[in-house]
Amino acid sequence: MPFLLQASSLSVKTDRLFLASVAVCAALLMVVVFFIVYFCVRYRRSRNPEPVDVEANTALEIAWTVFPLALFLAVFYFGWTNFRYLRDVPQDAMVINVTGRQWAWSFEYPNGKQTPELYVALGRPVKLVTHTLDVIHGFFVPAMRVKVDVIPGRANYVWFTPWLLGDFDIQCTVICGVGHSRMLSKVHVIPEADFKRWYFSDEPVPKLQPVSARVPAAERGLAGLLRAKECLACHSLDGSPSVGPTFKGLYGSRQTVMGPGGRSQVTVDEDFLRRKLSDPQAVQVEGYPPVMPPARLSERELDSIVRGLKGL
Ligand code: HEC
Repeated sequence: MPFLLQASSLSVKTDRLFLASVAVCAALLMVVVFFIVYFCVRYRRSRNPEPVDVEANTALEIAWTVFPLALFLAVFYFGWTNFRYLRDVPQDAMVINVTGRQWAWSFEYPNGKQTPELYVALGRPVKLVTHTLDVIHGFFVPAMRVKVDVIPGRANYVWFTPWLLGDFDIQCTVICGVGHSRMLSKVHVIPEADFKRWYFSDEPVPKLQPVSARVPAAERGLAGLLRAKECLACHSLDGSPSVGPTFKGLYGSRQTVMGPGGRSQVTVDEDFLRRKLSDPQAVQVEGYPPVMPPARLSERELDSIVRGLKGL
């Protein structure tokens, strides 16, 4: 869904469910409106001056009981599985304490560092544990599709894995006093190397480059293209470990992948690369987190990446 800003792995699942329920509701609305209009015309008084009794129709009764029931159960099933996903925090998530007060947020990292805005490493899951010092607040990051009530005396949590570099808004969603509308902050998603450098330094907050400069786009050739498309934030060209598998020696290697048909062995060839790049969430390499974002590539860029990876 390219028209929506989807900055985390949660956003794809959430949007799919949301748009599917909107589509189903819209379809049902049209059916209902159609029959309202149709019956108004078909059974108008001028055509039917004498009222008639309508007999119960058992088949129809069963149909309109079973069909909505199945629909509701389907909505429940997908809602429940998505909810489980939202609550199941990956083991390796970094735990960050979020504290709301009238009218600001603060973030505390495992090593004790505190910041007024949130800094996270691209491709690495974070668990945000929320607290409030005064009234009820609401912690909402629209681009990541996470939202939770922040309640006095109670720790709540959300998690997400950021998969786009950038700065994203944080908002308070509960009217919490006169300063409510100014209770804003940001999530800054930065490359992992920059995050680590800051995390282990004495700097209070990372020195941020503008988003466009966070990944230098000046290089040419395969490396330049991969960098411009942010692939190198999660993949390396020289065999070193990163969030995802290295591209070195990838072509022709055997991989265990999880796909729609369960687990299987594949050889990385052109077909596989095209399939992976057109829909990264459809097949996933075992042993890695499922955080690869949808790649926005033109046909030409896709061709040159596939050709380039073949030649590595
Ligand atoms: C946020 C991190 C991230 C970004 C950005 C990213 N990937 Fe990935 N990629 C992964 C992870 C993690 C995996 C392994 C799990 C999976 O298959 O989803 C992966 C898997 C792959 C694979 C399959 C590798 C194999 O071993 O079979 C290819 C090919 C690939 N990515 C190419 C790309 C390209 C090209 C781009 C840029 C357009 C890109 N990736 C951007 C995280 C990322």
